[in-house]
Amino acid sequence: MKLKKENILIVDDDINILELLQRHLKSWSFHTYKAVSVKEAVQILRDTNIDLLITDLKMPEIDGSELIKFVSEHYPKLPKLVVTGYPSVQDSLAAIKSGVVDYLTKPFTKQELENAIEKTLGNKNEITNVSESSVAANGTNYGEIIGGSEKINNVIQIIERVKNNKATIFIKGESGTGKELVARAIHYQGKFSRAPFIAVNCGGIPENLLESELFGYTKGAFTGADKNRDGFFQAANGGTIFLDEIGNASTAVQSRLLRVLQEKEVLKVGSQKPEKLDVRIIAATNSDLKEMINKGTFREDLYYRLTVVEIEVAPLRNRKDDIPLLVEKFLFKYGVEFKDRFVKITPEASAVLQRYDWPGNIRELENVIQRSVIMCDKVVDVSHLPDALKFTIDFPKEELLPLKEIEKKYIQKVLNATNNNKTKAAEILGIDRKTIRLKLSD
Ligand SMILES: Nc1ncnc2c1ncn2[C@@H]1O[C@H](COP(=O)(O)OP(=O)(O)OP(=O)(O)O)[C@@H](O)[C@H]1O
Ligand SMILES: [Mg+2]
Repeated sequence: MKLKKENILIVDDDINILELLQRHLKSWSFHTYKAVSVKEAVQILRDTNIDLLITDLKMPEIDGSELIKFVSEHYPKLPKLVVTGYPSVQDSLAAIKSGVVDYLTKPFTKQELENAIEKTLGNKNEITNVSESSVAANGTNYGEIIGGSEKINNVIQIIERVKNNKATIFIKGESGTGKELVARAIHYQGKFSRAPFIAVNCGGIPENLLESELFGYTKGAFTGADKNRDGFFQAANGGTIFLDEIGNASTAVQSRLLRVLQEKEVLKVGSQKPEKLDVRIIAATNSDLKEMINKGTFREDLYYRLTVVEIEVAPLRNRKDDIPLLVEKFLFKYGVEFKDRFVKITPEASAVLQRYDWPGNIRELENVIQRSVIMCDKVVDVSHLPDALKFTIDFPKEELLPLKEIEKKYIQKVLNATNNNKTKAAEILGIDRKTIRLKLSD
């Protein structure tokens, strides 16, 4: 086998097998990473660029097939090879279905391992194609973006169109909707992904420092500037700069930005010598820039330069079909992190999540799931959800009904929202439990 530089992650609870695999792989000059559990493997996958996953199926706590499912969803381009001591038809079928291209039975010879790895890595392109089309078909994830709703699919379509060029992009949406995630997807899914991605929170840097932080400064530009220094723009050269909360940029920063967009060059603070830069700018905000323009706090000319391509990330309440997919993702994430297992959710609790309005959007949903996973044992049910969610009652457009019927319906709704807890419902309705029964029966 030729000298290889690929990173291979091996996952097996049997240390002897791990050592054996590592010895063979090292003899072929692969870099190896070892994990004795799915939890460790997920951690390594997060932190490292892995080129091939070799995993056992039968492992305590979380099974290897769950790892394969996770990898197929989150790293669809990553080739997978299953090594198992217990081959069964079900195992093979499930593994093949989830995109595993090869399968090796213990005990195996060095030659068999070599053949399997060559075949798996050789099939990489094929796998890439298969998984990309299947992702497009069921639309469950794109990079880190989860969602199958039409609104998310539209966002993904725009990302596909802009990811390989350097057009300036403007992302707007409420807090927690995933604006930064979209910006990262544009950068990391496209052909400039190996160049830097620099995220700058314009609201997080004191106003008097933002200018020099962004564009750099020259020696003597201001007190304390004892040498020339590059800014975020120079650091992002060749790649992407993400200007988050752009509405917080001062007028000085705004006019410098305008120059960057118009001339494609940057002036360091204190310098007259422009530097040519090749940077894609992605700006984001959750404030209303149009209103800021009217008030005179945001430059209109800059606004039009920034909004060459606009992406609007819809609030979660307007794309509720995404909720179950997101819930599944976060249950997996926090189940592995806090409970060493897959945490499930009852249909009743799912229904509560579906009904809620999510003013804090996906960030709020993630926090709720994280908290519920910590509170529950193995299954999240309504009792683990925050009260604010349980007692939210929304009013869909209703036909005109007699008062009595509306009353009945409303009581029923409160009962549903309280998971049929008559005492709680009575408390909310301001009547006693007996009255609830009476009103429902006549
Ligand atoms: N479609 C999605 N799929 C999976 N995770 C998501 C999705 N959208 C958002 N998230 C997660 O929700 C959290 C908030 O997302 P992000 O930081 O991108 O939001 P934002 O719009 O930039 O919010 P803010 O305006 O408050 O800065 C992050 O942890 C992100 O990973
Ligand atoms: Mg953000």
